[in-house]
Amino acid sequence: KILILDFGSQYTQLIARRVRELNVYCEIHPFNHYPAIDASVKGVILSGSPFSVRDKEAPQIDLGGIKGKLPLLGVCYGAQYLAHHFGGEVAPSASREYGRAMLSKVQAANALIRDLGDPTQVWMSHGDTIVKEPTGCEIIASTEDVRVAAFHIAGEDTWGIQFHPEVYHSTEGIKLLKHFVVDICGCRQDWTPASYIETTVRELREKLGGDKVVLGLSGGVDSSVAAVLLHKAIGKNLTCIFVDMGLLRKDEFSSVLDSYKHMGLNVIGVDAGDKFLGDLKGVTDPEQKRKIIGRDFIEVFDSEAQKLKDVKWLAQGTIYPDVIESVSVNGPSVTIKSHHNVGGLPEKMNLKIVEPLRLLFKDEVRRIGRELGLSELLLGRHPFPGPGLGIRILGEVTKEKVRILQEADAIFIQALRDSGWYDKVWQAGVMLLPVQSVGVMGDERTYESCVALRAVTSTDGMTADWVHLPYELLAKVSNDIINKVRGINRVVYDISSKPPATIEWE
Ligand code: XMP
Repeated sequence: KILILDFGSQYTQLIARRVRELNVYCEIHPFNHYPAIDASVKGVILSGSPFSVRDKEAPQIDLGGIKGKLPLLGVCYGAQYLAHHFGGEVAPSASREYGRAMLSKVQAANALIRDLGDPTQVWMSHGDTIVKEPTGCEIIASTEDVRVAAFHIAGEDTWGIQFHPEVYHSTEGIKLLKHFVVDICGCRQDWTPASYIETTVRELREKLGGDKVVLGLSGGVDSSVAAVLLHKAIGKNLTCIFVDMGLLRKDEFSSVLDSYKHMGLNVIGVDAGDKFLGDLKGVTDPEQKRKIIGRDFIEVFDSEAQKLKDVKWLAQGTIYPDVIESVSVNGPSVTIKSHHNVGGLPEKMNLKIVEPLRLLFKDEVRRIGRELGLSELLLGRHPFPGPGLGIRILGEVTKEKVRILQEADAIFIQALRDSGWYDKVWQAGVMLLPVQSVGVMGDERTYESCVALRAVTSTDGMTADWVHLPYELLAKVSNDIINKVRGINRVVYDISSKPPATIEWE
């Protein structure tokens, strides 16, 4: 495997994804807290960082057990760190070193850059630059503004590059990374979905033996793939619980339940809508709503699980981005929203935890799911928040409002599917606003509710932009909703990006 040591760059996860796209397994660890380097580690990559190596509080790392002993590649801050600490010099750059640049070779035959174009386009993003290369090092490539764009320390497998090979705009970046991880580090490209499934199923069997396992299904991609993987490993010893909080999309409970049963999963569907809606009665504060929904979910799930005999394990669909220890550069962040997943379950249930997807990124979960034979319809589903429509009905949640929102949402989602936009959008939904406005239908005055349509593009939900849906599509959706959904006489489109807005309204 490859270790990626993180100095807090926004691109660190992207490096990992690129390495994995080469079917090579890698792990991200904080620079100040990484595991012992054993024989399984074939090479190390040092990430970028928001810091300058010249800062007093710049991250420091002991490379004693790595540099000169294992192949080492410094990217951006990583490269500057190598220069700064091994005889070179780093200073603020005099000219602009952001964005596109053309990289020309100085040592064309060097193993890291051989058979890349000359020149080749790369992406730069740094405020510092290496003004003097480290001792015993040769410059292997330069750009017009950056003399030490790529260097190699002679006599050892240590390289530094000041550009970012992992970003899309470095057109041959993946080739460069392949030279490093495959040719130089000698990693085999055998980390494929099929091999992952085979190894994981074997490990799950060994770990779980004949024990019984319970898992909470949500209808989403992660919990579904986790369930199918576990089912493959332990069959009937897996029981899944799917809770209907009364806050799902229209007809979702029955259709998802059916598809799970088709997959051969042993699923208990629990209709708990009345409890949730009862407890939400009169509550308007978004955080309070989130807390009630989270608490109720845990109660319902726990009481169902208690009915099963001898359960020893709780399975969860946790994925790698939730597991990676982030390098905090700005101190602890404030709570914007209390997320409800099955977060509070482990403490409450006193079961051992098994997380078969904890090594995977989202796109890898989809690839595994595909290999396991899950339907594209399920794998391509947009993310849906744990608290469901409860946080898309602003203000108090009632049964009638849920019905209105379900109808409007179904029209919007179907229109996206029919027009081919569903797969181009990362997430879409409808918000029911606590606003009534005057309208006219026929000769009658109306005084009814308003909904907001939301459709965004994103990669991880951390940032998002609104989608420029065609006016014709918006016109049709608006018309259909107002004509078909009793109680709505006005439709608006949300044109806010995240930040400063968020994807959900509550
Ligand atoms: P926001 O609204 O914070 O949403 O921009 C970012 C992404 O997270 C989803 N979301 C949730 N997912 N439990 C979840 O599992 C939650 O409590 C929750 N709240 C928001 C949201 O749908 C979007 O994809």
